[in-house]
Amino acid sequence: MRSVEWTRWIAVAALAAVAAGCKKGGEEAPSTTAETTAEAPAPAPEQPAAPAPTTTTAAVPANLPPGVTADMINQGREIFHGAGNCYTCHGMDAKGTTLAPDLTDNQYLNLDGNDYNAYVTLITNGVPQPKQHPAPMPPKGGSNITDEQVKAVAAYEWALSHGGTP
Ligand code: HEC
Repeated sequence: MRSVEWTRWIAVAALAAVAAGCKKGGEEAPSTTAETTAEAPAPAPEQPAAPAPTTTTAAVPANLPPGVTADMINQGREIFHGAGNCYTCHGMDAKGTTLAPDLTDNQYLNLDGNDYNAYVTLITNGVPQPKQHPAPMPPKGGSNITDEQVKAVAAYEWALSHGGTP
């Protein structure tokens, strides 16, 4: 008997809530429309803020090491995201994943990050015994890029930790 009363009470309360909701909805309808109209233009100015991710006109550091050119850095950017497969472990933004470290900071695990030639050597040989990651980096990241492409992607890595843009 008690539970039946409860059920009825809940049913009545629910009906009341629905009725209130309808009334409220009806009354507020015009103001909702007004809000929507007023807010509509707001998101528009945000759209141009998103930059194209792999542009070739991105910033290149001013003082390049001997033998490194802006062209090499831009080629290296494409190799990193393409033939070299580097992004699969280091991430599209080169900021690292659980498999490989951030290449955009100035903390280095396996090389002197200011020595461009150290990048060429490291990328050629890979990292057989990683310091903080679970599996080795194979030579050339496991890809079959040429020595010229290794130099270009090394230029890109050097640039990344010296103010270049991923
Ligand atoms: C299979 C995953 C993998 C791929 C693919 C890969 N790397 Fe790595 N990379 C690593 C690991 C692991 C390390 C060493 C991290 C450690 O010592 O803990 C590393 C280290 C490096 C370092 C030295 C970073 C430091 O602070 O010591 C550079 C530079 C680098 N990789 C560039 C590249 C480039 C360029 C490519 C593409 C040609 C590439 N990597 C592809 C996994 C990978």
